[in-house]
Amino acid sequence: MSAQATAVGQPSASAKKTRKRILTGDRPTAKSFHIGNYYGTLANRVKLQDEYDSFFLIADYHMLTTRVADLEEIGKNIRELVTDYLAVGIDPTKTTIYLQSLIPEVTELFLYFAMLVTVPRAQRIPTLKDQMRDHNLAVPSYGLLGYPILQAADILMVKGDLVPVGRDQESHVELTREIARRFNELFGPVFPIPEALIPEGGMLPGTDGAGKMGKSLGNAIFLTDDPKTVEKKVRGMYTDPNRVTATTPGRVEGNPVFAYHDTFNPNKAEVDDLKRRYREGTVRDVEVKEKLIVALEAFLQPIRERRARYAADPKAVERIIREGSERARDEARKTLHDVRSAMHLDYFGL
Ligand code: TRP
Repeated sequence: MSAQATAVGQPSASAKKTRKRILTGDRPTAKSFHIGNYYGTLANRVKLQDEYDSFFLIADYHMLTTRVADLEEIGKNIRELVTDYLAVGIDPTKTTIYLQSLIPEVTELFLYFAMLVTVPRAQRIPTLKDQMRDHNLAVPSYGLLGYPILQAADILMVKGDLVPVGRDQESHVELTREIARRFNELFGPVFPIPEALIPEGGMLPGTDGAGKMGKSLGNAIFLTDDPKTVEKKVRGMYTDPNRVTATTPGRVEGNPVFAYHDTFNPNKAEVDDLKRRYREGTVRDVEVKEKLIVALEAFLQPIRERRARYAADPKAVERIIREGSERARDEARKTLHDVRSAMHLDYFGL
């Protein structure tokens, strides 16, 4: 792609030469993001898009590894996921957002990579057992065994240098590194050796005080929750169970209400004051929670507004996916060209 070909709304192609490239993605499952996901990964991605040449993929092929029926719902999930990206501030003029299945080259790269990984190596990936358990599978399909190899194809297809993912995905990036090294050893230096970029911050607890906010645990505040729902969830939040009245000194540490204040309330003086009074026993839980509701609303309201704007314009969302996928496909074609010529699969020209 030439520099002039850079369309409005598309990241500049020349950015690639000077900046490192990141690639990450999500499967289009039915559940939307919650504030724990925002804190854990989305906020980081919004920041990274300013520093890196960014590619975010919607991994719809990966959905097939655990389900082969009821696929029509996935189209809706894809729209929702991209709408969420846009709502939190992932900017399609900075980031290439694309759909995996619009880049069929990835299946070809997956095929070549599948020859470089032994069956026992694929069986040793720890997420395989998790997936089998979560989906009640006694034995994995051939496709599920290939899940991390397909992910390696995603990453190496765009020659990603860095992969921002959660700790649970670390073993997949490790396998990707092995595949890249093996390929380069056998055929010449085609791929970078990518690195996982794992966020260091702790996890946001659930509204019930459990260690982790989970999409299906009934303890999450979703980015799509309306103000009434947010208020109800915050009012019902777990606090210090030993604090019977407002004059009982309370514990701030391990108290999810304060964990949320620390994360989402930009008014540090207010948070410090609430903490001090909580420890002394001179503030009611209700006040702490009401101030949290205000802080969360200030954070969620602009996200909701942006979400509503994109939700009202599905054509714009579709265009973003289409244009991003075209750009990703350009990269894919280039990579496949390099790969086939390195492997001497270009017997009859390319
Ligand atoms: N396996 C990832 C997950 O479930 C999704 C994914 C697919 C991905 N391909 C990727 C993540 C490439 C990072 C890079 O979360």
